[in-house]
Amino acid sequence: MNPISSIVLKMSESPAWQRRIGGWRVTRRVVRRFMPGEELDDGIGAVRSLNERGFSASLNPVGEHVHSEAEAEAAAAQYVTILRRVRDEGLDSNLSVKLSLLGLDLGAEVAVANLTRVLESAAEQNAFVRIDMESSGYVDPTLRIHERLRGRFPELGVVIQSYLKRSAADVEALAAKGAAIRLVKGAYKEPPEIAFADKADVDRNFAELMERLLRDDARAAGVRLAVATHDAALVERGIELARQRGIDANLEFQMLYGIGRGLQEKTRAAGYPVRIYVSYGPAWYPWFMRRLAERPANLGFFLRHLFG
Ligand code: FDA
Repeated sequence: MNPISSIVLKMSESPAWQRRIGGWRVTRRVVRRFMPGEELDDGIGAVRSLNERGFSASLNPVGEHVHSEAEAEAAAAQYVTILRRVRDEGLDSNLSVKLSLLGLDLGAEVAVANLTRVLESAAEQNAFVRIDMESSGYVDPTLRIHERLRGRFPELGVVIQSYLKRSAADVEALAAKGAAIRLVKGAYKEPPEIAFADKADVDRNFAELMERLLRDDARAAGVRLAVATHDAALVERGIELARQRGIDANLEFQMLYGIGRGLQEKTRAAGYPVRIYVSYGPAWYPWFMRRLAERPANLGFFLRHLFG
């Protein structure tokens, strides 16, 4: 990871920087590039226009790490509200959830109870729910909770990060079980003991994991793969593999709202489903800082607005 991205990721965890950067008006202007707004109405409006343009969506009310059971329960209630709103408006969007927002820091049972409430509501309308993957300390508990609940709720998916050295083993286990997997590169600051430090290794691992998840045995086990990246070479490789292997179901591409719009259109035009991950909400600071860290050019854009 380049040193600037590393500093920005460190700042994403700092309340002092949050107060400072979050207070600048220019920050909000730049945030709008990646987020339609702070209210559920903003997220719903974005999903509606994406649907009109042929994209499906996944809604993510930004937020993480609650400090009380009441906050975790409120987060579960918020997720349920989103599911109902999507159903009532007839929109094509699933839901992305974070276990730290559902109380994982307070104990696995708190998160399980809250996630179960969300999944029960989703099951009533046959909606799909994906558990986002957070920093490395959350990987084991997240995979355990996913495993525990997916028997009862088959419309539950999880995320694998190609920057983690452990991911090949996790993919093997999930492939055998026919899980619904979103493959990403990974967005957190991780130590070199557990994560590939070189971007080339992260990219190579992504390609290998994608290839693995598109093999016949994984497909036969029922794997549903979401290739989530704006890396044009990897998207192209995914399409090539799908064509070679005659795969026309249980594969979709996913990208973030406001990022790689040309690639979003091109992938959809190639005949593959593209789902756009739509984040909204007032607690955008850590999410926004991770987007800045992903691409130094974003930081340049931000600084130009700040001083311009
Ligand atoms: P890479 O960083 O190599 O970028 C490839 C190209 O994409 C860049 O050259 C640039 O053109 C463009 N690009 C990438 N990021 C950009 C940005 N911020 N602004 C502008 N252009 C950008 N992570 C995680 O740890 N847990 C999770 O649950 C998820 N969930 C998730 C869902 C979806 C739908 C997506 C697309 C991504 C995630 N991520 C994630 C984030 C992921 O781990 C990763 O940080 C970003 O996708 C950026 O990496 P790329 O794969 O795009 O490649």
